[in-house]
Amino acid sequence: MKRPLIEVRDLRFRYGGGEAALNGVSFRLDEGESVALFGPNGSGKTTFVLHLNGLLQGEGSVEVCGLPVERRNLSAIRRKIGLVFQDSESQLFMPTVLEDVAFGPINRGLSRPEALDRAMAALRTVGMDAAAGRAPYHLSAGEQKKAAIAGILATGPEILVLDEPTTFLDPPGQRALAELLAALPQAKIVVTHNIPFALALCPRAVFFQEGVIVAEGPTAEVVARFRWNFDSAPAKSLR
Ligand SMILES: Nc1ncnc2c1ncn2[C@@H]1O[C@H](COP(=O)(O)OP(=O)(O)OP(=O)(O)O)[C@@H](O)[C@H]1O
Ligand SMILES: [Mg+2]
Repeated sequence: MKRPLIEVRDLRFRYGGGEAALNGVSFRLDEGESVALFGPNGSGKTTFVLHLNGLLQGEGSVEVCGLPVERRNLSAIRRKIGLVFQDSESQLFMPTVLEDVAFGPINRGLSRPEALDRAMAALRTVGMDAAAGRAPYHLSAGEQKKAAIAGILATGPEILVLDEPTTFLDPPGQRALAELLAALPQAKIVVTHNIPFALALCPRAVFFQEGVIVAEGPTAEVVARFRWNFDSAPAKSLR
């Protein structure tokens, strides 16, 4: 049997005083798997992924590579799991792309030359090595997303978690990102509303609704079952 990389059992969470955002979520990610997380706005997807590296802690159990997500394991877990946030671009803050991507490895104790080597390798992986010397805030949105992914790859994670990575990308950019991610060896969790992107990248999907997973299975089947959730066309013409 495959080793679970992530095992979540009956996870429950509510933001201070508010409604429950997670109502008993169970989930498992195996080695080498890529899973799409679908669900309407506010259904708990981001809240769920923030539990995977301990940015939020609810009731129930969350284990990453066999380690319970709790304070004493957090630094080990954050080496194993790399989170690329939806607004990851706003986290680029160093004067050059290279320094930005090297920030994670330096923060983890690598020497500066080692960190810069790793950063350059990660930039090559995402096809951004030519932009190494540029200012991050001069990059296009798609380039910034790739730089943010390089920043996570440079830290050498076993699992990649991407929260809505295709936002701001044009269709060719979305396809290129799907190909780039598909070629990476890491297991992946991809939060997305983008069906072609999910179909290209993730054989399996789960569907969140009101803080629980209401369906899971092959991505095409989950999409078919919840088709109306993905349809953006208005029921009647607005003209
Ligand atoms: N910081 C917060 N404080 C209070 N409530 C929050 C906070 N963040 C999210 N929520 C609430 O928790 C619920 C789940 O939100 P979450 O962001 O996890 O949804 P989501 O599935 O990621 O949605 P989207 O597709 O819009 O990104 C929602 O009801 C939301 O309003
Ligand atoms: Mg979200």
